[in-house]
Amino acid sequence: MRTSKKNPLLKPYLKWAGGKRQLLPEIRKHIPENINNLTYYEPFVGAGAVLFDLQPQKAVINDFNAELILTYRVIKDHVEELIQELKKHKEHNDETYYYDMRAQDRDKEEFSHLNDIEKAGRLIFLNKTCYNGLYRVNSRGLFNVPYGKYKNPAICEEPVLWAVHLYLNSNSITIMNGDFEAVAKEAASKSFVYFDPPYHSQDKTNFTGYQADGFNDDEQIRLRDTFLYLTKKDIPCLLSNSDTPFIRDIYKDKSFDIITVSAKRAINSVADGRGNVNEVLIKNRK
Ligand SMILES: C[S@@+](CC[C@H](N)C(=O)[O-])C[C@H]1O[C@@H](n2cnc3c(N)ncnc32)[C@H](O)[C@@H]1O
Repeated sequence: MRTSKKNPLLKPYLKWAGGKRQLLPEIRKHIPENINNLTYYEPFVGAGAVLFDLQPQKAVINDFNAELILTYRVIKDHVEELIQELKKHKEHNDETYYYDMRAQDRDKEEFSHLNDIEKAGRLIFLNKTCYNGLYRVNSRGLFNVPYGKYKNPAICEEPVLWAVHLYLNSNSITIMNGDFEAVAKEAASKSFVYFDPPYHSQDKTNFTGYQADGFNDDEQIRLRDTFLYLTKKDIPCLLSNSDTPFIRDIYKDKSFDIITVSAKRAINSVADGRGNVNEVLIKNRK
């Protein structure tokens, strides 16, 4: 385990489907001892629960979701302006205001006039006030979650936003917005890769909830092949996924170790109707 002091304020500033906070104690057991001497790669960073728990000094983080990655960039470069924007949302927060903000992406012309700070503020505001904190877009890529009616939502968590700002600026953190495969394949020796993809679902009629086109079985296989590619390069990797026969089958190669963990996942159980399903952590063998 790393020895340098961690910042306890550093944690996810968004609620994200598949958030890893409950699994952290289990995940920590499988992080290399010398993580501080390695470059940490997280190609599906989401809200960053594992990143902020480990607080590596050198990291490459990535996600396919452009609006999500924009929030990391704005926190890094414009945290004060973002906090002002969130304070404004907090002051106006009610159901009508929420639906007005939500509607902004219906009008492409209006949306294109928002600057990056306004776009990032909008995403954080909608995420904190929408029903169940679920980021979900419909088939046309529009955010379509109803208002959450929370009494006191944490719209502007200033200490957390400052902690993230400090972390991103005082370490060597590269922020990318693309597909997982290209980013992961950049990992050279002295790297560690943690993959937290959209989880495999047995139910083919299910919508994964992350993006309009989902992450299907072919994508899971492409990810497995990327994992194998890194294994052949001797790069330690860890992957989390749901415990399904399909996942066990595609990772049955002797290069992998499969560890079963049980987890309660509030957001996933709503999104997938799967309730309390076991998860697996998969590592490559040394
Ligand atoms: C399970 S979530 C990550 C959860 C995150 N580790 C956390 O703790 O909050 C999966 C993420 O993968 C992203 N994603 C989906 N397809 C992708 C792709 N092809 N390449 C990169 N990221 C992708 C989604 O936008 C989503 O944020």
